[in-house]
Amino acid sequence: MAVVQKMDISHSNAAGLTIAPADGPFGAVVRGVDLRLPLDTETAGRIRVALVTQGVVAFPDQKLDDDDLERVSLTFGPFGDDPYIRPIPDRKHIAAIRRRANETAPLFAENWHSDWSFLEIPPAFTCLYGIDIPPVGGDTWYANQQMAYDRMPADLRAKLEGVIAVHSARGGYAPKGQYGERDIGRSMDIVHSETAMATQRHPLVRAHPETGRRAIFSTHGYIIALENCEDGDALLREVVKWQTPDEVVYRHKWAPNMLVIWDNRVVLHRATGGYDGHDRLLHRTTIADRRT
Ligand code: SIN
Repeated sequence: MAVVQKMDISHSNAAGLTIAPADGPFGAVVRGVDLRLPLDTETAGRIRVALVTQGVVAFPDQKLDDDDLERVSLTFGPFGDDPYIRPIPDRKHIAAIRRRANETAPLFAENWHSDWSFLEIPPAFTCLYGIDIPPVGGDTWYANQQMAYDRMPADLRAKLEGVIAVHSARGGYAPKGQYGERDIGRSMDIVHSETAMATQRHPLVRAHPETGRRAIFSTHGYIIALENCEDGDALLREVVKWQTPDEVVYRHKWAPNMLVIWDNRVVLHRATGGYDGHDRLLHRTTIADRRT
């Protein structure tokens, strides 16, 4: 088994930009930039390197409005497609990730996933900005799928070569899915649809287009079957066991006015609860991947 090693990504420059490791096995914290202003090319480039190598980058203490969130997002690529969550009024690309203090519907996004992996071209990055952040709970957990892949035994990695994963949104967003017609009392604006029954195929293991590092892409839930292998169900169960051990998980703690950007090609993520009695509101955009 390969040993998980934290990469040294520490950086500071004369303009005050600092990039430091997050409090976990991967991830970075960026300070010394004001995201209300356009980022210069060098700073944007440094942040992008941290993002694609670390998988998750947090920017504490940024007082952003929706225009700022859109502009920062567009620094890293064009907006992605966001099906099944109606955008907030007057914005095409911002979704509200909301839970009210007294809400009893099951938590949104509590299962490990890579955003919209069932699309033909899933988003490269997701941006999430904390507005109302509860004083306890509500952490977002990230699992690094490059580290998870590296820790797998060589014979398992060999079995994954050429395996195709079949993805679908049906378990979540079809009329009979988790957020379908029986999902009541939810404050998030989720729109279920028969289109969620569609399937899309992606290689189970993909090389990152910018770093070349190989990672398992997405997980059981959006992945509904494996093809081009013997006994896909058993293989998927085996892969899932390797995807989220503590050694590859970073538990991100939110604060109000914090922006987090993650690379969906590197990490899985999941929401967590523990904040009943408190509102939680974040604004989210996704950033498109390139067509390969
Ligand atoms: C998401 O999966 O986009 C939401 C994560 C969270 O609410 O922590």
